[in-house]
Amino acid sequence: MRKKFLPFTLPDITKKEISAVSKVLKSGWLTTGLVTQKFEKNFAKFIGVKYAVAVNSGTAALHLALDAIGLKSGEEVIVPTLTFTATAEVVTYFGAKPVFVDCREDTFNIDPVKIEKAITKKTKAIIPVHIGGQACNIDEILKIAKKQNLKVIEDAAHALLSKYKGRMIGTISDLTCFSFYPTKSITTGEGGMVTTNNKKWAEKIEIMRLHGISHEAWNRYSKGGSWYYQVLYPGWKYNPTDISSALGIEQLKKCNLFYKKRKEIVESYNRAFKDMEEIQGPYVEPYNQPAWHLYIIKLNLDKLTISRDKFIEELRKRNIGTSVHFIPLHLQPAYKKYGYKVNDFPVANKVFQQIISLPIYSKMTDRDVKDVIWAVKEIVKKYKR
Ligand SMILES: Cc1ncc(COP(=O)(O)O)c(C=O)c1O
Repeated sequence: MRKKFLPFTLPDITKKEISAVSKVLKSGWLTTGLVTQKFEKNFAKFIGVKYAVAVNSGTAALHLALDAIGLKSGEEVIVPTLTFTATAEVVTYFGAKPVFVDCREDTFNIDPVKIEKAITKKTKAIIPVHIGGQACNIDEILKIAKKQNLKVIEDAAHALLSKYKGRMIGTISDLTCFSFYPTKSITTGEGGMVTTNNKKWAEKIEIMRLHGISHEAWNRYSKGGSWYYQVLYPGWKYNPTDISSALGIEQLKKCNLFYKKRKEIVESYNRAFKDMEEIQGPYVEPYNQPAWHLYIIKLNLDKLTISRDKFIEELRKRNIGTSVHFIPLHLQPAYKKYGYKVNDFPVANKVFQQIISLPIYSKMTDRDVKDVIWAVKEIVKKYKR
């Protein structure tokens, strides 16, 4: 058994990032500036989209995307119940209602069939989440949205480098939101990005991320800038620093490399678990190329004498860190006031009891991967029915 605890995730930071960040620290310009502009330009090119606007979190990206489409108090936005709270909490910022929808049992993504049933006259938008980096069925969601005149904002916090039917996530829907939180495919410490092909929305987001003040406001302290500015709207303070953007530029260069490493880990896990009936590896739609942000196993509880919680505890005893993505939001106290009943979302309830996210990140060694496999197999052997 391994002696040292294997964290569930670790960022992959090298001298390149440290030197890029130091350069900004020594430059005299720390907040949003030319380095952020470069990060945005590089990101847009990488994704293949017209506009990319950087912000200081994935949550801010979602908030500003909803602001750009003009969400209003009393309206509704459809979100999966199986997601992180950020996806739904941003809807509440507007006095709007997050309308939860159940997930699919195989991909854990929002179920398009159930989206249709959740639409009312008040529905303004749908926020599908690409769980673990596997794209939702976007064509189907866009078809529903078009029919009902709704906007689609993809929560792609897990989906940097995911492809759907050969198309890069970030280029397809009205707006797409990425996160650069330290657990994600690339990190800026804290950060996020909105991508869109709509100039009007991109400009609005750029203004609203910095207090709603006019376009060139970030530049007002430099020689070429002007002290004069206009506050066009009451906005927010969501602009990223050039420090974090410098980190982002270096991380983005390695995005493909990180993906390749994660893909190798997926192949090792798939090979190791394929003949085990007690656990099931991830199901992948034939048209998807997941970013493999997560590797989620599903326990076949009928074949085991322990629960998911106990399985996690056993992994921890063997020094393997794990996580669960996610605790369904309808079970969380914060969302009780919307009146959902536990049994309104039977699929999410069921899969929530079965899922464990195993470590998958570029800094893992072959030994780490073997240790995870060994631990999973040993627990299964010990507790098989
Ligand atoms: C699905 C999902 N959406 C949104 C977010 C929010 O991103 P951030 O932590 O950058 O605000 C997360 C993050 O951690 C997430 O997992």
